[in-house]
Amino acid sequence: CNVVVLISGNGSNLQALLDSQTPEHPLRISAVISNRADAYGLERAAQANVPTQVLNHKDFSSREDFDAALIQLIDQYQPHLVVLAGFMRILSAGFVEHYQGRLLNIHPSLLPKYKGLETHRRALEAGEPEHGCSVHFVSAELDGGPVIAQARLRVWPNESVDTLAHRVHELEHQIYPMVTRWFAEGRLRLATQGAMLDGKLL
Ligand code: GRF
Repeated sequence: CNVVVLISGNGSNLQALLDSQTPEHPLRISAVISNRADAYGLERAAQANVPTQVLNHKDFSSREDFDAALIQLIDQYQPHLVVLAGFMRILSAGFVEHYQGRLLNIHPSLLPKYKGLETHRRALEAGEPEHGCSVHFVSAELDGGPVIAQARLRVWPNESVDTLAHRVHELEHQIYPMVTRWFAEGRLRLATQGAMLDGKLL
């Protein structure tokens, strides 16, 4: 399964995906694309001998123009799957439609709770007993597509944003490789009713 990963920053989820590639595992990351030239994830990709590309959104006058150029760049690699791993751009409906059923995102909350930014701070302020992360198929609604898998943890008493963010990140590094593997093995698909694993609705 040929995969293109989109990033904007540190790329620790990208690293987890890179580390999950083994000769037996049908996952091949063929390119990493960042909208920021200074994303540390680009170095991680280079270390793993994966080709990298930078497409700066500031070079485009509209979201649609940027997304069209991004589609062109991604499709050069003819991926079966496109993985968003900390890609901090909202994607247009046209982009999402183009990759429907083969576009995954990971979000640091137990969706549908806490879509958008600053999820850890918001979960703490709301006094949530539990928090976590979700992998979902991307739909036109921000952080709104069908959820595939979640990992949860119990929030500590007086927990800080930093420890919570750190602990959720560790969970992300477990579930993102797991879900991409399901996809690579042909076990996961997007149906009209939602995400399906091994023919069963999730
Ligand atoms: C993660 O928290 C992910 O859930 C969110 O962006 C962050 C990316 O972190 N979408 P990293 O770049 O993979 O370290």
